[in-house]
Amino acid sequence: MIRNEELEAVLETIDLRNDAPIEEPMRQYYFIKKAREIVNAESEKLGRRLTADEETFGCQMNAKDSEKLIGILENIGFEMMDDESADLVFYNTCTVRDNANQRVYGRLGLIHSMKKKNPHKKVALCGCMMQEPTVIEKIQKSYPFVDLVFGTHNIYKFAELIVSMYNSDKMIIDIWEDTDKIVEDLPAERKYSFKSGVNIMYGCNNYCSYCIVPYVRGRERSRNPKDIIREIEKLVSEGVVEVMLLGQNVNSYGKNLEEPMTFAQLLKEVEKIEGLERIRFMTSHPKDLSDDLIQVMKDSKKICRHLHLPLQAGSTRILEAMNRRYTKEQYLELAAKIRREIPDISLTTDIIVGFPGETAADVDETIDVVRKVQYDNAFTFIYSRRTGTPAATMPNPVSEEEIKANFDRLLEVVHETAKSRVGRLLGETHSVLVEESSGTQLSGRLSNNTLVHFEGDAVLVGTIVDVKLTEAHGFYYIGKINMQEHRLEELLQKCRHRELPEEKML
Ligand code: SAH
Ligand code: SF4
Ligand code: F3S
Repeated sequence: MIRNEELEAVLETIDLRNDAPIEEPMRQYYFIKKAREIVNAESEKLGRRLTADEETFGCQMNAKDSEKLIGILENIGFEMMDDESADLVFYNTCTVRDNANQRVYGRLGLIHSMKKKNPHKKVALCGCMMQEPTVIEKIQKSYPFVDLVFGTHNIYKFAELIVSMYNSDKMIIDIWEDTDKIVEDLPAERKYSFKSGVNIMYGCNNYCSYCIVPYVRGRERSRNPKDIIREIEKLVSEGVVEVMLLGQNVNSYGKNLEEPMTFAQLLKEVEKIEGLERIRFMTSHPKDLSDDLIQVMKDSKKICRHLHLPLQAGSTRILEAMNRRYTKEQYLELAAKIRREIPDISLTTDIIVGFPGETAADVDETIDVVRKVQYDNAFTFIYSRRTGTPAATMPNPVSEEEIKANFDRLLEVVHETAKSRVGRLLGETHSVLVEESSGTQLSGRLSNNTLVHFEGDAVLVGTIVDVKLTEAHGFYYIGKINMQEHRLEELLQKCRHRELPEEKML
């Protein structure tokens, strides 16, 4: 692990007159030093610090990548701001559905006029959308003012890419088709001080027939368990109490490691980390969810009582066409088993409406699963055709009207079941991790991920308090702190004297 001061010591030893080393992460340390020189010189010219603005689209994996990118930017001297007038604007893009792409193109239109007024402005694009050759063609043709384009496999090279960008007048494009490399020990800037996502694996090998992720995120690769544990221990030492283990299919974690390890085994190791209070993970593919995992969750004091178990469709025929590799009955059996073993668990899901050939009768099957499983929440998406995926060339596209009718029918049942489920804890007292404050209004989450709003002191953000759930409102509760006076006072005192970590580690 490398701390700030350790990185500074390494940077001291680097002589920029030499060529850049080949080995990572040394090569990136070299470019961090070089980028600092460039940023410094630019700042001197302007008489102020260079500023940068980022916007992240898509999933938690992208959010985590953005923390790494921002970490590098801050380390080389940029000041982050939340405004597209910044000297450097970068978009970390998503391409899972077409509307995510359209939003990026819309933004680029706006940026173009800003760049005309300020030619020193730099624009960088990265993330999943950039892994698609058709997108790159369109950017070259329609948005030639973009300065830097890179993909999902080389984000660790950001410092090096920034150096190239400032040394060139042309658009720099660096996209890798795939990688087997995982580069550790680079800077990262966390959005929250008390919770953090932790990548445990990258890529996806499942090839669900509608999904572009395997093409833009590459083959599945698991991080070494030692690196994961080391990162979580470091996070906990900085005040993190909740981690979210991230992967497209965490249930297949560890299969390609030199010493194979299961996700259930990894969870047991993470559970042992002292000071860590809550463990979450995303996403579980139903086909790979083992009995061992259910057992580990059941026995755990730290794993949250929430499981996101994407269904996608309730009709076995459609599931087969989607290449999900489970039937409606297998899914229902799995959900029933989980509920039997862990009765207080909340189940949530993702559903796609309008997959090619999907009939109203198929959607009835989906609705049947929603009724039987009783989800706390379901994210419903309209099928989006992704070029290059097998589903893109499947026959019988569903008409917009049919999709809308089916979508509305489904949504009604989703809301109905969610409302009845979410209210079930009304009147009980549960622990809540306080995540946000607005004046004396606090918001936080139960172990099962439901939102709770209640009155309290803003210093409590980042701590776990007991809250009585006094009103249920569909997807959230209103509550009241319910702790013995002296325990609350003790906690408040501790929070008021909480020291900010003296240094950030890299
Ligand atoms: N790896 C995760 C999901 C990643 S994408 C998993 O397997 O569950 C998040 C969600 O987007 C998916 O669960 C799916 O419901 C939705 N999705 C993916 N591709 C889509 C498409 N082409 N059209 C509409 N929704 C899609
Ligand atoms: Fe896409 Fe399926 Fe992989 Fe999830 S498991 S990322 S839906 S291919
Ligand atoms: Fe989007 Fe890429 Fe995530 S396509 S959903 S940002 S993995």
